[in-house]
Amino acid sequence: MSLFSVSSAFSLLPFLLLSSVLASSFTQLEEDQIQRFQKYLQIRTAHPNPDYASAVAFLSSEAQSIGLQTLTLEFARGKSLLLLSWPGSDPSLSSILLNSHIDSVPAEPSKWLHPPFAAVRDAAGRIFARGAQDDKCLAVQYLEALRNLKAASFVPRRSIHVSLVPDEETGGADGAAKFATSQEFRALNVGFVLDEGQASPTDEFRVFYADRSPWSLIVKAVGEPGHGSRMYDNGAMENLMDCVEVVARFRESQFDQVKAGIKAVSEVISVNPVFVKAGTPSPTGFVMNMQPSEAEVGFDVRLPPTVDPDLLRKRIDEEWAPAIRNMTYQLIEKGPIKDIAGRPLATPANESNPWWSVFQQAVIASGGKLARPEILASTTDARFVRQMGIPALGFSPMANTPILLHEHNEFLKDTVFLRGIKVYEHVISALSSFPANSP
Ligand SMILES: *[C@@H]1O[C@H](CO)[C@@H](O)[C@H](O)[C@H]1NC(C)=O
Ligand SMILES: *[C@@H]1O[C@H](CO)[C@@H](O)[C@H](O)[C@H]1NC(C)=O
Ligand SMILES: [Zn+2]
Repeated sequence: MSLFSVSSAFSLLPFLLLSSVLASSFTQLEEDQIQRFQKYLQIRTAHPNPDYASAVAFLSSEAQSIGLQTLTLEFARGKSLLLLSWPGSDPSLSSILLNSHIDSVPAEPSKWLHPPFAAVRDAAGRIFARGAQDDKCLAVQYLEALRNLKAASFVPRRSIHVSLVPDEETGGADGAAKFATSQEFRALNVGFVLDEGQASPTDEFRVFYADRSPWSLIVKAVGEPGHGSRMYDNGAMENLMDCVEVVARFRESQFDQVKAGIKAVSEVISVNPVFVKAGTPSPTGFVMNMQPSEAEVGFDVRLPPTVDPDLLRKRIDEEWAPAIRNMTYQLIEKGPIKDIAGRPLATPANESNPWWSVFQQAVIASGGKLARPEILASTTDARFVRQMGIPALGFSPMANTPILLHEHNEFLKDTVFLRGIKVYEHVISALSSFPANSP
């Protein structure tokens, strides 16, 4: 390399510095929006003691400053649910609902680069906080999009509601589950719901049309106890190991389809052992020369909406935990698996669903790209509204962002946060203007 290229690199330096300063300079409004996001993140809404009262107070006061109607509901003591409304010009049309949960999972501060409730914004614009992606960004983005639409004198045809709900991270029983079946919810006449999705490491936004349904399966085996040295049939451990082997083979059959690229992780039944309980305790650990008379194993099972739950129930009964091998089981099906009309809990993500088309076009109009619609591998509150027969999509507009939900050092970049507000402005205005009769 010649001197020439060195000197030209040096002469470029001031320009590079200048352009990076320009790229990270925001308008006053944008700076304020980022600050409001940081303020919300600083409210400790992580389990096991989420401060719902402070979060609801903060969000209500923001909503009031925008001119939204506010209503605080409480379906379980100490767990407030905040409902915000912007009435539309045509009350005969169904409304749209934007949902976000207030609570988040805990954080281990010692494992973080920055304290998880400080919402530190580093030089690269990354805002570090528990809840930055999952999903406190949404509440503020919804509000700021509505603020911008109000400022632009937008008039919605359909009413726009925002629900800020407690308890999602602990299953939703005292939050969205009760809300979706309430009189208050019915009165909203909701036609379409947007709920949380997940970050996308590429420049395409992800969108989810269904969640997998979580089951907990606990298998208990019994059998003759005996001396540790004795070889005999039908011990409790032997029976339990049979169960574990059969389940492991099934797990492999599902996982192989993922590895072969035939199905996505969320399109197969996942089953993972999460605990094994057996043995006779002793002061130093376990009695080693004794085969126990009881043993237990727990599995986390997740079903995509495409599989028949009856077939899996039959498989568990006949193959995984057969009574003739001295096994009993407890199956806890967490949440709904079919809607009130008996249909699978999946929102059609194609032209057969006019809400889908409006949503998709609005994202594209905002300059965004959408990835192929997916089933979410885990669960969200969306399943409770899908259960009521209402179409719902999971969508968190975070492109070019590592997926950090529930992880250490969860962060969202300021630019990504701000772009999300713009995306919601397009999406909310399109959905609330959508003229067709409610499907
Ligand atoms: C079931 O348990 C009983 C009582 O412990 C035992 O006698 C029998 O052999 C066991 N049968 C099987 C198939 O494990
Ligand atoms: C749309 O999706 C639904 C459910 O996923 C499917 O049953 C239907 O055939 C699809 N319709 C079109 C027009 O692709
Ligand atoms: Zn979440």
